[in-house]
Parts: sequence; C-alpha cells; structure tokens
Amino acid sequence: MNTILVGAQWGDEGKGKIIDVLMEQADLAVRTQGGNNAGHTVEVGSEKFVLHLIPSGILRTDKKCVIGNGVVIDPVSLMGEIKGLMKRGIDPAGRLFISESAHVVLPYHRQIDELRELRKGDGKIGTTKRGIGPAYGDKAARTGLRMVDLLDLELFTQKLKGRLEENNAVVSSLGGTPHCNIEVTAELKEAATFLAPFVINTITYLHEEIAKKRNLLFEGAQGTFLDIDFGTYPYVTSSNTTAGGACTGSGVPPHKMDRVMGVMKAYTTRVGEGPMPSESDEIGDMLHGMGREFGSTTGRARRCGWFDAAITRFAQMLNGIDEIAVTNLDGLDSLAEIQICTHYERNGERVDYPPADLRKFAECKAVYKTYPGWQQSTSNVRKFTDLPPNAQAYLQAMAEYTGARLAIVSVGPQRDQTFWV
Ligand code: GDP
Ligand code: IMO
Ligand code: MG
Repeated sequence: MNTILVGAQWGDEGKGKIIDVLMEQADLAVRTQGGNNAGHTVEVGSEKFVLHLIPSGILRTDKKCVIGNGVVIDPVSLMGEIKGLMKRGIDPAGRLFISESAHVVLPYHRQIDELRELRKGDGKIGTTKRGIGPAYGDKAARTGLRMVDLLDLELFTQKLKGRLEENNAVVSSLGGTPHCNIEVTAELKEAATFLAPFVINTITYLHEEIAKKRNLLFEGAQGTFLDIDFGTYPYVTSSNTTAGGACTGSGVPPHKMDRVMGVMKAYTTRVGEGPMPSESDEIGDMLHGMGREFGSTTGRARRCGWFDAAITRFAQMLNGIDEIAVTNLDGLDSLAEIQICTHYERNGERVDYPPADLRKFAECKAVYKTYPGWQQSTSNVRKFTDLPPNAQAYLQAMAEYTGARLAIVSVGPQRDQTFWV
C-alpha cells in the first residue's frame, strides 16, 4: 500500500504527527517537494522533534527515509539537521537517502528571497526566507546546481562561478550587497563531504523497494493552497504541494499510488499573507492564548479561523483525497458554538470553490453553519465512539463537506493521542 499524504489547507495541518503514526505500518517515508521551509512536529513522550528536510519517518529507527528529486536542499541546513538528530540518539546513517537530482539552495537564494520580500513591502508574500522561491526559479530556468554537482567540489566551484556572476547581479539590482563569493564557504565544503555518503539514485532505489512490496508513505510538505498551480497565487510556495508532486518529486508513477490521505486541522490556520475568508480573531485569540499556533519554522503567530469546507472540498478534488485525518480537535474543546464555513458568497451569489482571481477571492464572504460545541476535554479520548456526541457530529460534518471518509482523529500532539475511525 503506497500512500500520499497531503496537507489539505495552508500547511501546518499536523502532517508530521500523522506521518509518524502511519509509519507504524509503512517501510519508507519519502519527501518529494519543498525544502527547509517545512517544519513538521512530532512529539514522542517528553521529546519534541521538528523536522525540516528529513522525513518524519526517521524517528522510527527501523524505517528508511528518502529525500526525493523534487526537494530543494540547503546542504548546510540538512547537515545541521542530521547532526542534531544524531546528538539525540537517532542516527540516519544507512537509512536516509538523498536524491542526486535534488536542487541545491545556496546563500544567494536566501539573500534574493529576503531582498524580494523587502522590496514588496506591504505586498510581501511572507515567505520563510529560506531561499525556496529563488532556488526553484533557478531549477525552472535550467541554471540550478544539484546534489550531484556538490559531489565533485572542484567542478562545483567552477559551475558556481557562473552562477555567482548572475545571482550577485540580481542581488545588486535588488539593492543588496552581494556577500557570496567564489570561495565556497568552509561550511558548504564540510556539508558536501558530510552529505556525500547519503546521496544516491533515489529513483531506482524506490523502484527496487516497490518491487520488494515495501509500503511507501509520501510525506507532503506545505499544503494544497500553497501549491504553485492551485494555491492562492502569488501567495504560495514554489512547488507542487498537491498529490501530483509526490510522483514528479520521486519518480514513482501515478499507478503505483494506492491511497491519498488529506490532513486537516479541525479549524484553519495560515502563516504568511494572502486570502483566508474564514479568518477569525475570536478563535485566533483563543488559540494563541493557549500558547498554540506559532510557526514551527519561523515562530510567527499563525493566522487562525473557522474550518473552511470550501477549500477542503477543492483539496479533495485536486488531490483525489480518499481519507481524511483531522488534527487538533482538542483546540475547540472549550467552545460553546463552532462554525463551519460551508461556502462563500460574492455579490449575493453562491461560490463553492476558491476563485483564481484574488480580487474576487478577497470579496468572498464566508457563509457559516453553526454547530454546538462539547465543552469538555477530548485529549484523553482514544476511541471515536467515546468522543462527546457533538464532537462526533462535528467531525462527520467536516468529512461530509469535504467529500472523503474520516479515517484518523488526533486529540493532542502526542503519538498516542490519535485513533482510527
Ligand atoms: P505540519 O507542518 O503539518 O507537520 O504541522 P506543524 O508541526 O507545523 O504544526 C502542527 C502543530 O500542531 C504542532 O505543534 C503539533 O505538535 C501540533 N499538533 C498536531 N496534532 C495535534 C493535536 O491533535 N492536538 C494538539 N493540541 N496539537 C497537535
Ligand atoms: P509545512 O510543511 C505553512 C508559506 C510561507 C509563505 C509561503 C511562501 O510545515 O506545512 P516559502 O518560504 O515557501 O517561499 O513561503 O508559504 N509556507 C508554509 N506555511 N507551513 C509550511 O510548511 C510552509 N512552507 C511555506 O509562510 O506564506
Ligand atoms: Mg509545519
């Protein structure tokens, strides 16, 4: 059984936690897009891990992990992440494989990312400033450098020379002072040597594993509405975060995929700019007051709102979501009434899917249906039928509006605060 797991909202749906749970039944976790803009949290006992580039499956020490060709890799950051895990007793050696075709994020990408945001002022995207957009930009422009280039430092230095000329000119044109030079930094050299043993042809490796009937779990990063094609463009990331990205980012063809699981919070969050019709200060103040909903990568406070079924319905269509995993149900425990945005209205007309024209999207008003709350803690519940009836009804409504089967419910950050339905 090969499963694609995608975020059905704007990222941070709790994918890391659900991946960790699903890894009990899978053999390999595969990241296929994005980079260290991702922050996937897994809590096991008193330990909390936030994974950025390494698949969350790494925490199960008998499992293998792949960083596929579609990911953009900041080598220094990845080295730091591997070393950080090793310090905590988790050794990725021999079970983490990095694609030789994955593109590399370099210091000038980060600098350009930051300068572009600065220039945009109020119109900024609100990126994570990890250089993701500029690195994917170079990939599409066919001027990027890949992990395979990093394996031969002499040749890499030569190639970098040409790249520096162009990128430093871009930095200057954006009003910045170029600070990357041909002296490949000692850090980058160290990372190249450190990562070399992990770098392989992950495409043939994955096909060998499939031939051995291994179960693969594709760990989506970001969320459907940050997708470069289907998200709220330009307030998106620079990769395909939807199910198709799992194929192009790994070399595993569509007919090898058996199931698509969509992860969604019991409410909606978004970090960064862009439309969000169900945004609500009421729910935001409540969650922030509980110390929740601060970004795993940048620490920024996430924008919060009611569950928006107009977007999850579209996510179901785009990804072919068969099953949903609902996280953070416990975040709503204290409320007397809970709203679900069932659709939008614009100029008195019903709108069922997010419009591509952001001016129109900005004019969409969320239309809500009110559900009674349950006003009791759910964090110790471990069986669907033990949930308060109002919580069961709310979850079933989420699934019905989305158009997929409710499969998993999460009532806390811990591995065991999860149950199948
Ligand atoms: P990801 O990027 O989709 O992996 O999600 P993040 O890790 O960025 O953010 C999800 C946050 O919610 C993390 O802090 C998780 O520990 C936390 N979390 C996940 N599921 C639950 C849940 O059911 N209840 C609570 N209270 N926290 C959860
Ligand atoms: P995970 O995998 C939430 C958002 C940024 C910004 C936009 C573009 O943890 O769910 P980028 O740095 O990618 O160019 O930023 O995308 N963003 C995320 N939001 N979760 C993420 O990842 C995100 N990765 C990027 O906040 O709005
Ligand atoms: Mg996250």
